[in-house]
Amino acid sequence: MITQALYDEGITYAEQNFMDETANHLKVDKELIRTKFNLDGKKILDFGCGMGGMSLWYAQNFDCEVHGVDIDSHHIRIATDLKSRHHLPNVGFEVRNVLDRPFEGKFDFIVLNDVAEHIQLPILKKIFVELKKSLAVDGGIFVSYPPWKSPYASHVSHVVGIPWCQYLPERTLLKLIEKNNRAIVGEEESDLLEAYKGLNHLTHEKLMEAIEPSCLKAVFRKSHSIINRMPGLSNINLRVFPLDYLITKEFVLLKN
Ligand SMILES: C[S@@+](CC[C@H](N)C(=O)[O-])C[C@H]1O[C@@H](n2cnc3c(N)ncnc32)[C@H](O)[C@@H]1O
Repeated sequence: MITQALYDEGITYAEQNFMDETANHLKVDKELIRTKFNLDGKKILDFGCGMGGMSLWYAQNFDCEVHGVDIDSHHIRIATDLKSRHHLPNVGFEVRNVLDRPFEGKFDFIVLNDVAEHIQLPILKKIFVELKKSLAVDGGIFVSYPPWKSPYASHVSHVVGIPWCQYLPERTLLKLIEKNNRAIVGEEESDLLEAYKGLNHLTHEKLMEAIEPSCLKAVFRKSHSIINRMPGLSNINLRVFPLDYLITKEFVLLKN
């Protein structure tokens, strides 16, 4: 059961991701998607859609059809309630484990937005094999995630108060998380400690290993860091040590 307080927190968070173009970590994702893809007329799968903020954003901003799926029923409950509140007919949500129940149709655009870093590598490999089967011939799979070296990759630095805290000694970090631990929306991962332990420490190399069995190919990669906010440097990829530790988000497009 989800408490009323967590439900309200989830609705507020997802609604902000949907409505506010400048909201937190998704601002860069939205800008990149707008400049790189025209999703009009496309059938989109938002894989691991969570509470649906981005699914609703796609549905509102493009003339497209969006299907949001997630393994977690608490997240899908919030997504479904938000869809009703905003009366968007071109988006639907369901709880689904794609490995138990593969999709029947094909999608033009499959998005994994802040999802891949939460799934253990052997399962992620199987998921990419399944997703490839559901990808239209000219379609693309767009993956975004914070790489493990990034300042916020631990997903707990906001409560621990230390960027790059994933590099603290394990025992120290676990104690700090326990001290600041709190419930989050989620049936699968219901507090910050579980969420931290569920991370797979994703890097570009690990992602490339994860797509190998599917034979998908990476055709585009953008490594976003604070440096990209400086005038004239928006397209630069600074992946050399130590600047690679400033990358906050990796974006990769996969194709057949
Ligand atoms: C950090 S949330 C991101 C949610 C959303 N994509 C967003 O950007 O707001 C990660 C989501 O991945 C989902 N997830 C994890 N493993 C999954 C799986 N095997 N199949 C579907 N969803 C999964 C989680 O339940 C969670 O909702």
